Amino acid sequence: MKVTVVGAGAVGATCAENIARKQLVEEVVLLDIKEGLAEGKAMDMMQTATLNSFDTKIIGSTNDYSATADSSVVVITSGIPRKPGMTREELIGTNAGIVKSVTDNILKYSPNTILIVISNPMDTMTYLSAKASGLPKEKVIGMGGILDSSRFKFRLSEAIGCSPNDLQGVVIGGHGDTTMIPLARHATYNSSPVSNFLSPERLDQVVSDTMVGGATLTKLIGTSAWYAPGAAGAYLVESIVRDQKKLFPCCVYLDGEYGQKDICIGVPVVVGKNGWEKVVDFKLNDDEQGKFNASADAVRKMNSVLSEMKLV
Ligand code: LAC
Repeated sequence: MKVTVVGAGAVGATCAENIARKQLVEEVVLLDIKEGLAEGKAMDMMQTATLNSFDTKIIGSTNDYSATADSSVVVITSGIPRKPGMTREELIGTNAGIVKSVTDNILKYSPNTILIVISNPMDTMTYLSAKASGLPKEKVIGMGGILDSSRFKFRLSEAIGCSPNDLQGVVIGGHGDTTMIPLARHATYNSSPVSNFLSPERLDQVVSDTMVGGATLTKLIGTSAWYAPGAAGAYLVESIVRDQKKLFPCCVYLDGEYGQKDICIGVPVVVGKNGWEKVVDFKLNDDEQGKFNASADAVRKMNSVLSEMKLV
């Protein structure tokens, strides 16, 4: 089996490395527009094969999409990252054209692939790929909710003083500083609601720290984060190629679920070999549904830029 990662920047390279180290597939193709970058990073990673004990072959390509032919899954990370103080939404002008052209090129060589979109603004880029590819809706998945949920569990673990691996928590809605919705009411510490361990004020703090998780890192590092975004992309690839039927939030095309239509936004889904296989209804209360509707309004406003740019 073959997986392609488009974009050999920090997120794409980290994603490719995680896929290789987990030996999820026989071959990973890393493709970038910048001459030699993907080949160089692929070679550097291959030189860790004996150190990290993997047999996955990593191949680099400078914009030659024929190398990506017949990929089962393609991860799109292309585009510019955030600089400190920037929102993900400000990237749309540059990234929309890039993501559209990457989607078109990928489909020429892998017409039945499953597309995973990481490029920002992620919800709008997923909508663009869904429209531009013409793929069945189950085959286009935006990766944001897995990352945001992982950050949520990290913040909860700090507050409770426990292992992040003993926590369950889900973040739905848009992948934006103001649009994501950490579902605090549903989060548990090994089945016990986290509200049994944290005051309402501390839990509110966890929620707001989670929402600005990406911006906090961008401020510290000077560019977008990559370890968790890359690992989250590989985690999604794993659920597909191993047909794990994992339940986690992803950005998918809704057709009435959660009260929304003609939009890609984060909701809990089950992911397996066919892509996202079903949306799971978490039975939101009025407050949560209100936040979800507001998040969808913000994402839809961003999507309207795509029609202004004549991309959909
Ligand atoms: C982040 C970017 C990748 O949240 O969206 O770090």
